[in-house]
Amino acid sequence: MADYSYQALANMGPQARWRRVLLITLIPMVFALIYYSYPSSYIPSSLKSTTYPHTQNVSFSDDDTSMSTIIKALYGPILHPVDAGNFTDEDGDVYRLHGEPKFKQKLGKKVLILDIDSRPLTGEGQLMNPDLKWKGMRPLSAGMLSHFMFAKIHGYDYKFIRAPDYADRWGTWVKVPMMKEALKTHEYIVFMDSDVMFHYPHLPLEWLLNYWNMTDDTLAMMSIDPNEPQNYDEKGNRYLNTGFVIARQSKRTQEMYKAWAECPSETKYQGCARWKLDWAHEQAAFGNYLRYDYDRPDDIRVLPCVEANGAPEAANRGGCKGVFVRHFWVDKGLVAKNLADGVMQYLLPRLHQMYLGHANEHIVDAKGFRLEGADLIELTEEEKETARKNQGKNQKDEGF
Ligand SMILES: *[C@@H]1O[C@H](CO)[C@@H](O)[C@H](O)[C@H]1NC(C)=O
Ligand SMILES: *[C@@H]1O[C@H](CO)[C@@H](O)[C@H](O)[C@H]1NC(C)=O
Ligand SMILES: *[C@@H]1O[C@H](CO)[C@@H](O)[C@H](O)[C@H]1NC(C)=O
Repeated sequence: MADYSYQALANMGPQARWRRVLLITLIPMVFALIYYSYPSSYIPSSLKSTTYPHTQNVSFSDDDTSMSTIIKALYGPILHPVDAGNFTDEDGDVYRLHGEPKFKQKLGKKVLILDIDSRPLTGEGQLMNPDLKWKGMRPLSAGMLSHFMFAKIHGYDYKFIRAPDYADRWGTWVKVPMMKEALKTHEYIVFMDSDVMFHYPHLPLEWLLNYWNMTDDTLAMMSIDPNEPQNYDEKGNRYLNTGFVIARQSKRTQEMYKAWAECPSETKYQGCARWKLDWAHEQAAFGNYLRYDYDRPDDIRVLPCVEANGAPEAANRGGCKGVFVRHFWVDKGLVAKNLADGVMQYLLPRLHQMYLGHANEHIVDAKGFRLEGADLIELTEEEKETARKNQGKNQKDEGF
């Protein structure tokens, strides 16, 4: 095999050749099927018989497992080790662990990737609409599908909780009691707003927990918000963004979530009722009250904005470029593009390796000929030399 710089990403042994063959036949299906999710019990039965892809009028049986096969084929060979000492991002920046990794084994089903929404999401382009298509897909559908895919890649649990509403609070408050419930069944939960996603689907959560120093005493990890006036609490500290939360099961975590959800009752926190409807809602309640009550050194891990908030398109907002976790408050239109990135940054090197790897089968070198009218005439050695010297004449780089 030739020496392409993609080897690291696609370090497959020869015994994995069949996977490439499988992969190429499955490529069109990757795109068609990436939307396919197994219906869970809360979905009305009318949604369960949906068939894909619509444009080709093909349907798959209920026990079709090819989507998990595709995910394994695409991501399996390149998963980053959970206890790796470093990670190199797409810009070549290297991130190193600060000490011995705490997590050396996969956590699997101890981790819950969690979506929470109280809206029906059945409209055009929305996730619960059986006729979801790439074209016209709404941003939040892309976000939640990327969360689901992340869980499938690493074998974590995934749940979408259709939350009841509070009668007197802004909708986003429901994530507090729902996260609290989820922390009763799972040791680690990762809650993401639908405009938040992991930028490297092959980088496991365990690695990030190692990198961000998760300890047994940590209740939650959240990213700090950009350094802008609206992001400061009443004491002059910057808010933590509640759009991305990693929380760890413990008695103290349950207490914290209880106090958080009950904050607006003002039995404990005078003035909290205001945040029932005022922006930034539950985030302001956490920022103004809870974080000061849960302030042991390991309680709340504050993640750097540059690593766990924002997006490259928002880098001018305090450098928050979302190295590991992207949050598209800057432009929700970028969410679907990033779901595509999450597939294409892996599919492309594999497709390219296959293209060049089988080059002798489909790259035809007609440079040994010259064109005259409609005819190809073989060049003499001397003519070949001249042709090499004149290369690029009458052409421009990638020009059309
Ligand atoms: C798609 O399949 C359905 C059911 O098999 C059939 O009734 C319909 O005519 C098909 N449409 C096209 C465009 O082939
Ligand atoms: C990252 O870790 C691997 C495995 O220990 C090592 O081979 C590699 O040189 C490291 N890369 C960098 C940039 O430090
Ligand atoms: C983790 O610990 C290292 C070393 O003490 C420190 O430099 C780093 O900022 C910590 N990371 C977080 C997210 O707290």
